[in-house]
Amino acid sequence: MGTENSLLNKAWETLENTIIYYYDNPVGTVAASDPSVESLNYDQCFIRDFVSSALVFLIKGKTDIVRNFLQQTLKLQIKERQLDFLEVGRGLMPASFKVVHEKGEEYLIGDFGDRAIGRVTPVDSCLWWLFVLRAYVKATGQSSLAHQPDFQKGIRLIMELCLVARFDMYPTILVPDGACMIDRRMGIDGHPLEIQTLFYYALRTAKELLLPNQENAYINQAVEKRLKPLANHLQQHYWLDLDRLTEIYRYKGEEYGESALNQFNIYSDSIPYDALSRWLTETGGYFAGNLGPSQLDCRFFSLGNLMAVLSGLTTEKQAQELMNLIEDRWEDLIGTMPMKICFPALKGRDWEMLTGCDPKNRPWSYHNGGNWPVLLWMLTAAALQSDRPNIASQAIDIAAKRLPAEEWPEYYDGKNGRLLGKEARKYQTWTIAGFLLAIELQENPQYLSWIIC
Ligand code: GLC
Repeated sequence: MGTENSLLNKAWETLENTIIYYYDNPVGTVAASDPSVESLNYDQCFIRDFVSSALVFLIKGKTDIVRNFLQQTLKLQIKERQLDFLEVGRGLMPASFKVVHEKGEEYLIGDFGDRAIGRVTPVDSCLWWLFVLRAYVKATGQSSLAHQPDFQKGIRLIMELCLVARFDMYPTILVPDGACMIDRRMGIDGHPLEIQTLFYYALRTAKELLLPNQENAYINQAVEKRLKPLANHLQQHYWLDLDRLTEIYRYKGEEYGESALNQFNIYSDSIPYDALSRWLTETGGYFAGNLGPSQLDCRFFSLGNLMAVLSGLTTEKQAQELMNLIEDRWEDLIGTMPMKICFPALKGRDWEMLTGCDPKNRPWSYHNGGNWPVLLWMLTAAALQSDRPNIASQAIDIAAKRLPAEEWPEYYDGKNGRLLGKEARKYQTWTIAGFLLAIELQENPQYLSWIIC
């Protein structure tokens, strides 16, 4: 890999310029700093966007900003149960926050989806927050921050919010559409893979970080009880390879009772089995995007699949099969910019019905089959973890040729990601941080232990 030092230094400097200060202390990074576009809420710090920045800062020994971020976002977490039950749930964390200056004072204001486009619920924020907390503990070698009473309470509240009994009887979490990185309507309401793999990661983190005391006893027990059923459920019902596809193709419908094989009553006509039987390779496999009654969403969602590896959810065999698929379907999943957010794109009536005719999410654009450079670090981590360093280095090489020259775009469009995203911002912070992080991981794989469960 020949990424020049001057280029990396420049990228690092650009990243440092995105830092947000709160009473003179670094507390996060803005989502983007493109001077040519109106900032909207991109001048805020998004919890999910900060993850790659946090890891880069930890690697560089800049632990202050990550600690401040964890402390301040914890203060924003909803702590009280509202009497009118109209407010958002206890334990929720905002999608983003900003520093407001007023009469010489500074305030941090969180957006819990109450101002966001589409008023989407940021379910993933509290899960990513736990991810950053775990990385901080690993990087500093100190659990003291996570063991403080306010942090223990924060973790408990997140777990309570995720584990609370609702109308659903699966071990997964039921969420509305747009509850994660894809924060617009994309037909991913229900039990999308991304949330489930982050949830699995969060459960494992809570198990590591919650102290075994009286106060935590019931949550510790609940966490322990959920881990196995969740892993089994995802491995059994979401995993797709040629054998599994054949099984689903031959399913009988309308099965009643406990011994039903086709538990979710999937009708094979609802599966694009012709296209899939050609796309799935002999040695490839992946987790489907979503599962519900008579619904198996066979789109490939990258974040969920890569997080499945990082969270330890995949078996060794599944991780290899996933990497095989990425390698064999390189043009589709990586193309000219790692990596496609989901494949294939929704088109025609599907696009109309599932996105609500969203022009930003036209086929092969933005969330609907665009290529997002931030995914490079997760691909790198998952590939290295699966002992497939070639995948990581090829992907990094592709990104290195374009990202700095094209000023760190947010996303790319087109079937192979050749076009700069129609409305993509430049100087998108997680693009810069994700790139730096991928290179750090490649050069120093020991940092993987901060990321991998
Ligand atoms: C877009 C993305 C979202 C991201 C935000 C800020 O809304 O879909 O995942 O957090 O931009 O970059």
